[in-house]
Amino acid sequence: MRRILVTGGAGFIGSNFVQYLVDHTDVAVTVLDKLTYAASRESLAALPADRVRLVVGDIADAAVVTPLVGEHDAVVHYAAESHNDNSLADPSPFVQTNLVGTFTLLEAARATGVRFHHISTDEVYGDLELDDPERFTEATPYNPSSPYSSTKAGSDLLVRAWVRSFGVQATISNCSNNYGPWQHVEKFIPRQVTNVIDGGRPKLYGAGQNVRDWIHADDHSSAVWTILNQGRIGETYLIGADGELSNLDVVRMILRHFGRPEDDFDHVTDRAGHDLRYAIDSTKLRTELGWKPEYGDFAAGLARTIEWYEQHRDWWGPHKAAVEASYAARGQ
Ligand code: NAD
Ligand code: TYD
Repeated sequence: MRRILVTGGAGFIGSNFVQYLVDHTDVAVTVLDKLTYAASRESLAALPADRVRLVVGDIADAAVVTPLVGEHDAVVHYAAESHNDNSLADPSPFVQTNLVGTFTLLEAARATGVRFHHISTDEVYGDLELDDPERFTEATPYNPSSPYSSTKAGSDLLVRAWVRSFGVQATISNCSNNYGPWQHVEKFIPRQVTNVIDGGRPKLYGAGQNVRDWIHADDHSSAVWTILNQGRIGETYLIGADGELSNLDVVRMILRHFGRPEDDFDHVTDRAGHDLRYAIDSTKLRTELGWKPEYGDFAAGLARTIEWYEQHRDWWGPHKAAVEASYAARGQ
């Protein structure tokens, strides 16, 4: 593979993958990104211009997408509307980008025969009870809860159908919750970290018992590169790093890092339809393709991420007030 098109490559996880390609391969990268509120040109600014090109455009615009896809050896498709709370406030851009956008890319992959890797989430499987001994596997039935997760589930099903009906050369990965640098301050960990940096208090939805399975974005990127190169066409791979923690535990770790009392947080209005627990069994990826995560220690990865937010106030600061105002308007 010499030329790779990364959709959503100016977002949190997509830009991490672009950085990964620059650091670990010699491929030329094109980023196709609409530069929505969630994008950040700064996340790509330090990358060499002779390796990374940015095309500003919409994945749902076939006139842009079809010729661009044809110029590449592979498409890695990250672009999406990605925040559950936003999907509850207004589902419309989620349907447009996550479903129509993915459809448009698949039609281009079908027309050109280009290898396609689809990035998805474990949230397509719905949620688990706190005491359920089972975790999600590739065989778990789809049961999404929110407009975000249902549009991601629909996009996965489109990919499966385009493989079976049209022979598109695609793979799918469903990953657990990511953390690391360049994540938008609307998301859980950056929101709480920047609240504390600003002298405020973390905001826990409901009782804070909900469990998420955390993975560092660097580990997500190495897994995607492994699947792109070694994955079997038509297969789905779950990506996870055995990082289950309750939201309450994560908030306490953040408060401890700053030397603040462990109960120095607010309980706020719970999310409608809030999924209780996600947990990934990534045995297939580890045994079939030999992948393993580098970040075994969540506490160490979190500490590095907190330090990054302390050092990058110029980046997140301008967005913080508007994000908090919109949460406050919803009692969150
Ligand atoms: P993000 O919101 O940080 O970035 C999304 C990027 O997509 C932005 O740069 C945005 O400008 C771009 N984009 C949005 N609509 C577009 C459109 N119509 N055309 C072109 N570009 C568009 O999201 P993220 O957290 O980096 O997530 C990236 C992908 O990974 C998504 O597909 C998401 O479902 C998946 N995922 C995320 C997580 C997580 O924890 N964040 C976990 C598993 C899977
Ligand atoms: P989020 O980062 O939105 O990811 P997802 O909904 O995809 O899991 O939220 C992670 C968890 O944190 C989820 O259980 C909701 C919860 N949460 C809070 O308790 N407080 C907050 O301010 C936010 C944004 C999320």
